[in-house]
Amino acid sequence: MKRITIAIDGYSSTGKSTVAKALAKRLSYNYVDSGAMYRAVTYFAMINNCFEDGLFNSNKLKNTLDQIHISFKYNNDIGYSEVYLNDKNIESEIRSLEVSNFVSYVAAVSEVRKLMVKQQQAMGRNKGVVMDGRDIGTVVFKDAELKLFMTASSEVRANRRFEELISKGDNVKYEEVLENIINRDHIDTTRADSPLTKAVDAIEIDNSSLSKLEQLDVILKYVERIITE
Ligand code: CDP
Repeated sequence: MKRITIAIDGYSSTGKSTVAKALAKRLSYNYVDSGAMYRAVTYFAMINNCFEDGLFNSNKLKNTLDQIHISFKYNNDIGYSEVYLNDKNIESEIRSLEVSNFVSYVAAVSEVRKLMVKQQQAMGRNKGVVMDGRDIGTVVFKDAELKLFMTASSEVRANRRFEELISKGDNVKYEEVLENIINRDHIDTTRADSPLTKAVDAIEIDNSSLSKLEQLDVILKYVERIITE
């Protein structure tokens, strides 16, 4: 059976990573969370004082990009890869609302995107990859055999992310999570470099009222059609 590239794009908290992980597991493919890479750069920028008084000093970050080494290591216990910044596991640090509040500014920097896209393309060189993000079907893997574009209402998405953060013990309010989602969607769709947009050949899936299993089933049908062609 042929191994393909699966590109999953969409707005924040649309469940892209949940379905991408499940797909990768089912197909024995590699899963790459491209958002985790932008989050890792953001975390680096935060601990290196590239944000002062709430203002982002993008030049400071650009001048230190060569100090950033991002990698993924498979964790057997949880069944997927975790992100490392300069050999330190930062999986839990990058999921905070603080990182979420800064990440879209960092991800709008062309120099950052160029570096990330190069690494992502290298990771997908041998096919058999599921990658999720904002520009996977439009920039990173324009020739992906299957492109999906996930959507869901802002309230459904905010609720999902709120529950996720609360279950991890983060002390956040629903309203601030919703505000973050709306703000990030705005920055991600209006930035000059690689804005979030549905690739012309992507299949749109609104999962507002689909369970995790239902959405996996819908997508697996598309995959099967392609790999058995
Ligand atoms: O999980 P969630 O949908 O909240 O976001 P994420 O996938 O972790 O991505 C975090 C942020 O990184 C996004 O809001 C984008 O600003 C940026 N990003 C991007 O610009 N391009 C990608 N391929 C992936 C993420």
